[in-house]
Amino acid sequence: MQNDLLLKALNHEIVPRPPIWLMRQAGRYLPEYQKIRSQVSFLDLCNNPELAVEVSLQPYNRFNTDAVIVFSDILLPAQKMGLELEFTDDGPRINNLISNESDIKKLTIPLANEDTYPTLTAINLLKKEIGEKVPIIGFSGAPWTLFCYMTEGYSSSNFNKAKKFLHSNPQASHQLLNKITNALFLYLTMQVNSGAHVLQIFDTWAGILSLEDYKTFALPYLKHLISDLMPLKVPIILYTNNSHHLLPKISMLKVAALSLDWRCDLQEVRDNFGTTIGLQGNLDPTILLTDETIVREKTKNMIQSVKNWQTGYICNLGHGVLPSTPVENVHAMVDTAFEFANEPVFV
Ligand code: CP3
Repeated sequence: MQNDLLLKALNHEIVPRPPIWLMRQAGRYLPEYQKIRSQVSFLDLCNNPELAVEVSLQPYNRFNTDAVIVFSDILLPAQKMGLELEFTDDGPRINNLISNESDIKKLTIPLANEDTYPTLTAINLLKKEIGEKVPIIGFSGAPWTLFCYMTEGYSSSNFNKAKKFLHSNPQASHQLLNKITNALFLYLTMQVNSGAHVLQIFDTWAGILSLEDYKTFALPYLKHLISDLMPLKVPIILYTNNSHHLLPKISMLKVAALSLDWRCDLQEVRDNFGTTIGLQGNLDPTILLTDETIVREKTKNMIQSVKNWQTGYICNLGHGVLPSTPVENVHAMVDTAFEFANEPVFV
C-alpha cells in the first residue's frame, strides 16, 4: 500500500504526521456530489456500485485524504432486514417501524452477498481502483444506534420512542438487538472479504443511554460483534457521540481506536483511561463553517493537544462534515494535518 499512514496509526506505529480522513467526507458540501444527487435519489446512489464508487472517490480526488470510506448509509441493513426505508428532505424515515415482538419475529437476517448489499460490489470496485494507494474503510451502525432508528422510525434528538420501547419491552429489545448484531456481523465480514482494510462502527446514539442501560443493552452486543470480527484481523474504529459518562466502559473495548466528539478532551481521555488508547477526532464540525485561518489554527491546536500524536492518533472531526461547509475549509483542515510532516518530531 502506497499510503499506509492510517493502518500504521491504528497499529500504533510511529508516523511522521497524523493520518486524516473525515466522517461524511463525501456528501452535500461537494458540488460534484450535488451534481450526481440531482439525477439520482440517495438510496439509488447507495445501491448503485459504480456511482457509489465515484462519490466515494470525490473527496480523495480533491483533498488526497489518507483513506476512502465506501459511500453508503448505516440504515441500509435495516432495509435489507425487512423495513421500508425512505430518505426524505427531513432525513431517514422507516414506514413500518418495530413496535412489538411480532414485528421483530418478521425481520430476517439477510445473507451478506452482492445481491443483497450492492455496497459489497462497490468495495470490490474501490479495491481495484484505489486499494493499493490508500486504505478503504467499511462501516456499519452499532446495534444500539440501529435499534434507535428501527423503533423510532426517523431521526430524533432524544429517541424517546426508542427508549420507551427499550424500557417497556426489555426482553423483546434483547431479541431485536441480537438479530441486528447477527446481521451486522455477516455484513461487516463480507465488507472485509470484499476488500475493506478498516471497519468503523458508528454508535451515534450511545450517549442517550444511562451507564446502566448502556451496560445492559449496548455494550454486550458491541463486545460480541467486535470479538466475532477479531479473527478477520482488521482494525476497528468505534465512533461514539456525547458519551463522556460511558467512557470507563467504552475505553475497555478491544478496538484499535475510539472516534470521539468535540466535547471530550483527547489527552484527558488518554490520561484517564490509558496512555496508549487509539484516538480519532475530534474537531467540532461547525469550526469548518468559519474561515481558513480559524480552521488551520484549531486543527493545529487539536493535533498538538494530543501529547503523543505520533502514535495511535487519527485526525478527523467529532461528527460528520455539515452540508453548508465551504470546500476550501476542508482543504485547510486536511492540509494542516499534512504539514505536520514538516514539524520536528520528538519521541
Ligand atoms: O462519507 C462518508 O462518511 C460515508 C457515507 C455515510 C453517510 N452516512 C452518507 C449520508 C456514512 C458513514 C453515514 C453514516 C450515518 N448515517 C450515521 C452515523 C454517523 C452520523 O452521522 O451520526 C447515521 C446516524 C446515519 C443516518 C442518516 N443518514 C441520517 C440521520 C441522515 C439524514 C441527515 C443528513 O445528514 O442528511 C442520512 C442521510 C445521509 N447519509 C446523507 C449522506 C451523504 C445525505 C443524503 C443526501 O444526499 O441527501
